[in-house]
Amino acid sequence: MTATRGLEGVVATTSAVSSIIDDTLSYVGYDIDDLTENASFEEVIYLLWHLKLPNQEELQELKKQLSENAVLPEEIFNHFKSYPIENVHPMAAIRTAVSMLGMLDDNADEMNKEANYEKAVRLQAKIPGIVAAFSRIRKGLEPIQPKKDTSLAENFLYMLKGKDPSPVEVEALEKALILHADHELNASTFTARVCVATLSDVYSGITAAIGALKGPLHGGANEGVMKMLTKIGNVENAESHIQALFQRKEKVMGFGHRVYRNGDPRAKHLKEMSKRLTNLTGESKWYDISKKVEEVVTFEKKLPPNVDFYSASVYHSLGIDHDLFTPVFAVSRTSGWLAHILEQYENNRLIRPRAEYTGPDLQKYVPIDERI
Ligand code: CMC
Repeated sequence: MTATRGLEGVVATTSAVSSIIDDTLSYVGYDIDDLTENASFEEVIYLLWHLKLPNQEELQELKKQLSENAVLPEEIFNHFKSYPIENVHPMAAIRTAVSMLGMLDDNADEMNKEANYEKAVRLQAKIPGIVAAFSRIRKGLEPIQPKKDTSLAENFLYMLKGKDPSPVEVEALEKALILHADHELNASTFTARVCVATLSDVYSGITAAIGALKGPLHGGANEGVMKMLTKIGNVENAESHIQALFQRKEKVMGFGHRVYRNGDPRAKHLKEMSKRLTNLTGESKWYDISKKVEEVVTFEKKLPPNVDFYSASVYHSLGIDHDLFTPVFAVSRTSGWLAHILEQYENNRLIRPRAEYTGPDLQKYVPIDERI
């Protein structure tokens, strides 16, 4: 048995949800370029969960269900209020809150198809409110419940900031949510599938996935990018800062990818949005620094930016706190995780690979007082 490091190139499952072929990312066969241009995030959620685009009636029904299930139980607010959360990372908080939702759901362990779909709706509906509530409570503000008949993107910004977002902000977040919604068998999606393949419940699958997304090699990279841009501070410092990272053999957050060879197809949309939004906010320096960093990294290492690189300056321009960037990713990716969880349940088999053993040969137990 020979291990493949990081499971690179290993095909671990079949899936009809999304694919990466020749550096093109598509959801159920629809190119993300097409969806980003034309679809709403709710349409994409429907597409991922039903493997077809909704008609008008089906879309309205999903929107109604999401709206009806978006109100958060008081227990979540009380939980956030009962801890000194100033130093808690929001990803830890939402991971815990999703786990709590599982505790509070009487049907958490009901495993039929309908019950699991309903849990998917409940979770997707509530996750934006969880992120917003955490953000407000840690600032000493009261959490805000969602509006009715409002898109998920708009409601999220409303609950986060306590005021109606501008159409430009809503459109930008909507596009970002579409771009992050699913991504084949990425680390967190794999985690979710491994978890529910034991026939554990939907909440456990999403809790596990949030844990995997949190790491800086995965979703945590977008926060890392903003930290780096802030440290760089201005365009003139960019080259020396990146060269110093190379010298120390540190990774540049937001660059490289396990699967894409010629670039992440999501990055160009976010780059364009970053340019436009930073211009509108009068802070084009974030775009300019990002562009300079991209020039240096692609020249020196031939590594193109991934989805996390320009999303950092996009979220910053939307007035989102930097440590909430990865939670925003989670709000979107919950739709993909849920699609994969539902797909896994449909044709389940325990996921249990092997390990190449590198320890000592069989040895005899030595009683403790005979050991040196
Ligand atoms: N900066 C500097 N060098 C890099 C980077 C980077 N961002 N990415 C890869 N390399 C180098 C790496 O040092 C290695 O060089 P060498 O062969 O000389 O040791 C080579 O490229 C291969 O790297 P790897 O880490 O073995 O590649 P991987 O396929 O295991 O990792 C990755 C992929 C995305 C984890 C990695 O590129 C990385 O750590 N990037 C920075 C973190 C990041 O932006 N993560 C977000 C990924 S995309 C969104 C998501 O899915 O969440």
